[in-house]
Amino acid sequence: MTTEERDRRVLALYEQVLEIEERLIPTGLHVFGRVPEDVAQLDMLRMVASFDRPEAGARALPELVAEGLGLGSYAALLEASEQTSALLAKRERVDEIVRASLELFVRAGTEPALTWLEETARVKREDAQPLFSLLMRIREQLSTNQELDGLARALRGEYIEPGPGADIVQNPLILPTGRNTHAVNPYTVPSEIAYARAERTVSRLLERHTSEQGRYPRAMALVLWGLDNIKTQGEGVAQALWLLGVKPLRDAMNRATGVEIIPLERLGRPRIDVVMTVSGIFRDLFGATMNLLDKAVRAVAMLDEPPEMNYVRRNIDEQIKNDGCEFDEAILRVFSNAPGNYGTNVNFMVMDSQWENDSVLGDLFVTRKCFAYGRDGEGRAVEGHEARRAMERALTRVEATYQNIDTFEIGITDVDHYFEYLGGVTKAVEGRANCKPAVYLSDSLSNDQKIRSLEETVRLETRAKTLNPKWYEGMLKHGFRGVAEIESHVSNTFGWSATTDAVDDWVYTEVARTFILDEEMLARLSRLNPHSARSLVGRLLEAQGRGYWKADAKMLERLREVFNGLEDLIEGVA
Ligand code: BEZ
Ligand code: MG
Repeated sequence: MTTEERDRRVLALYEQVLEIEERLIPTGLHVFGRVPEDVAQLDMLRMVASFDRPEAGARALPELVAEGLGLGSYAALLEASEQTSALLAKRERVDEIVRASLELFVRAGTEPALTWLEETARVKREDAQPLFSLLMRIREQLSTNQELDGLARALRGEYIEPGPGADIVQNPLILPTGRNTHAVNPYTVPSEIAYARAERTVSRLLERHTSEQGRYPRAMALVLWGLDNIKTQGEGVAQALWLLGVKPLRDAMNRATGVEIIPLERLGRPRIDVVMTVSGIFRDLFGATMNLLDKAVRAVAMLDEPPEMNYVRRNIDEQIKNDGCEFDEAILRVFSNAPGNYGTNVNFMVMDSQWENDSVLGDLFVTRKCFAYGRDGEGRAVEGHEARRAMERALTRVEATYQNIDTFEIGITDVDHYFEYLGGVTKAVEGRANCKPAVYLSDSLSNDQKIRSLEETVRLETRAKTLNPKWYEGMLKHGFRGVAEIESHVSNTFGWSATTDAVDDWVYTEVARTFILDEEMLARLSRLNPHSARSLVGRLLEAQGRGYWKADAKMLERLREVFNGLEDLIEGVA
């Protein structure tokens, strides 16, 4: 290895370490009615301060600091294709000043923070003032919690004032909490901002796919959730539109009810076919949006364009020719549960260990989600008619699966819904396309809208949360519930093994070392919640048994011993 090569590798490694360090994680559960502690507040304020806030006339603090120091734009530092040590040092210097100024703000208030920023980084007071006014308002609102009061008033049947539902970083106006959360008007989705951001995410997604697979995906399977599209005002929806190469068209009442075709010359790439699985919540909230997506697919399928530039048209033509199916069937792309039904049940099947052959998980996904929505060729509403064959045929052409992740609060191992959806659809594709699709997630919350493979995301979540003492000690402060949270992270990780095999062996090995082979930790878990401790060990043994983890024999023996010990303990207690 040359010195240059070595330096490059060390830097790449260093960047990964930074990424884990900087990842914002919840360090404990929200306790209803209680305000977040200073440390947690500081993390939230830092995230809020890292974005431009045009609505408050405020600019992102890292940008102000980088400019004040004469380093140019912070975004440019982040985006430089090659991260040299000089660049990283600049980034770190900016991050350190941002962190220190916010600590000072939390400790001593706005004035000292502004003065310090001016002295340390030549940030003009008048430039930073709007941001700090916003941060002060957020801090005050974070310190007053109306949740218990709101609940009591609701129970008395009194009026609760409404407030928007979102992520605090995306929309600080969600504060104060304890109000009556309201969602969005589906006709406003996607918003202009969501659509603009989606262009970048999609171009990164396609760049990543082409660089790894050597070509554009013939078709992609997308997962769209309701709450996420509320929070981002439709970023996921906008990404689907960009993949197809269309723009939402607003009617006289400013409702997004149509689409405008983006010419191929402007798009500069083929139109990608998309098979969309939307959640039951999305279906209930975004009926108008499902129509918009269906309309977009139909509009693209009608274009007179060369097949190598219009994959929707190419796939439909091929399908009609090869499978002899009708156009009306071949064009279906928006799928969800039957009306009134929710979820894929893949999570329940995994959690209950109720399957023998992995492909059953993909079949279950299709059984639950093969109901088509939109309008037919004559404009008649299609509201959830069973279209299993259409969905299966559409999935045969899928080469990549994808979901937009928009929040730092809930990651892919925090809940079982990510693997039931993205894992479920990936398994369904695997069984029908006869290949393993590439699986990608975006981090649309981060400033640079990163695309990660599923494998990378599992590693990052494992290091930032499950194996991070800051995270698990935060959980363990909650006693019984905290152990259940740790167990649930391990089970959700296992869910990714079951649906996608995207979990490295070291993940399970380190989980075993951290929580079970460490005698002191095992004693704590067993005392606080022996049931969850037993499930955790059971899950590790199952991961080994199903071939997801190559564990060494001694470790396995010890795990079995611990499992039996916990069984005895629980039976003795019961
Ligand atoms: C949704 O927002 O659509 C959703 C939420 C939780 C689980 C699955 C979907
Ligand atoms: Mg493996």
